[in-house]
Amino acid sequence: TGRKQYVIANWKMNKNIQETLEFLQQLKEGNGVEVVVCPPAPLLYPAKLYVQGQKKEIQIGAQNVHQEDKGAYTGETAASLLKEIGCSHCIIGHSERRQYAQEDDATVNQKAKQALKRGLTPVICIGETLEQKQQDQTEKVLTKQILGAMDGMDVSQVVFAYEPVWAIGTGESATAAEAQRIHGYIRSVLEYLDVQNAEKVSILYGGSVNENNAQEFASMTDIDGVLVGGASLQVDSFQKIIAVFA
Ligand code: G3H
Repeated sequence: TGRKQYVIANWKMNKNIQETLEFLQQLKEGNGVEVVVCPPAPLLYPAKLYVQGQKKEIQIGAQNVHQEDKGAYTGETAASLLKEIGCSHCIIGHSERRQYAQEDDATVNQKAKQALKRGLTPVICIGETLEQKQQDQTEKVLTKQILGAMDGMDVSQVVFAYEPVWAIGTGESATAAEAQRIHGYIRSVLEYLDVQNAEKVSILYGGSVNENNAQEFASMTDIDGVLVGGASLQVDSFQKIIAVFA
């Protein structure tokens, strides 16, 4: 497809310093696959220093960023600081942040713009809830999320992750065929925004990906990688998922 293939670890609120360094010591490079590890914020800098010291081609990404440049935003992290410490990517609009931190499409849009402005590639998460799926609202929800996130933005500069909320951490992934159909739909919305560049956008699948089902996702034309939660915590399973996309 010519598109970059990604395998991204979203550790969420897991791992301490020692566990992080041990994981990074064992983790091998991606062999052409973009491997991005997203630890909790305080571990970004030690993680970056470690992979740099080992001269390993493993990228470090943040799980969130604030939309403003700097200022009185207690507890938040600036995109410029993430860039300074060596982050390459930033996950934006993960369903857990939409749910627990009330992030809406407008916030996602602001954060994505801010990330880009400071040289971080936004990994924009979208996905429907179980209720929305049951009411046949999936396409409608995704369209709204995509158009909201991309307002005033260039599609060629972002990565998308389709994460059906009902598949996150449940052990019940979408089937590869189902995910392919939705990824095709997402690409058609991106084509509506920018017919030239939509083909170049990497669209990742996330939601109960593991070493056993990764191959099926990898075989689908519009699935350009995976965003992995639970199965990214063990280096063995994460490495096997990377191998599938390499
Ligand atoms: O960002 C990762 C997703 O939320 C998927 O999590 O692989 O544990 O289902 P999971």
